[in-house]
Amino acid sequence: MLLADFALLAVALLSLIILVTMLGSLWVWVPYVPTPRKVVRRMVELAQLRGTETVYDLGCGDARILLEAKRRHPGIRAIGYELPLGIFLLAKLRVALSGLAVEVHMKDYLKADLHNADVLFLYLVPEVLPALLRKLTAEIKPGTRILSHGFPLPERTPLHCERVPLPSWQFFSASGKKGPRVFVYAW
Ligand SMILES: C[S@@+](CC[C@H](N)C(=O)[O-])C[C@H]1O[C@@H](n2cnc3c(N)ncnc32)[C@H](O)[C@@H]1O
Repeated sequence: MLLADFALLAVALLSLIILVTMLGSLWVWVPYVPTPRKVVRRMVELAQLRGTETVYDLGCGDARILLEAKRRHPGIRAIGYELPLGIFLLAKLRVALSGLAVEVHMKDYLKADLHNADVLFLYLVPEVLPALLRKLTAEIKPGTRILSHGFPLPERTPLHCERVPLPSWQFFSASGKKGPRVFVYAW
């Protein structure tokens, strides 16, 4: 009986944490939706990281893209920005458990300094992309690669775009598409 009570309490607590985390992302207008593993792996491949490049995830969620990038390319500097406290703490926890040197900051990515970026990972919504585009245009250096999951950058033509096939339980499309798109840009 005690065990059942404990299990129930643990499930209730976990549900509460997930709910607070999800609700926390609503005030930044971009819901917390983690990129599926297969898409993470493909984004990191497409980024063609090398040497000691500096890599950002703007709205890094639980830092999964940065962790995958750092695991595969230990020489890189990996930096993430995340705003809602619950999601930021989740990222910190995952980074701590991984033992990898990934930096995560609780900060609005629009206020971050991106001058030294070699690669940017994005998974945002179309509504916030015009403001980000203005920042990128003013700030990032020529040659910076940008990988955007799901949505294209306005006014820019991607170098490459592909769909990453996913099972239907992971990706639903009313038009029958088989997976989300990844857009690759070079500034
Ligand atoms: C769709 S999720 C993607 C998470 C992660 N990049 C991934 O691909 O798994 C977008 C994340 O961006 C965060 N976010 C939205 N606006 C932000 C802002 N202005 N500054 C920092 N993080 C932000 C949200 O809290 C959310 O966790």
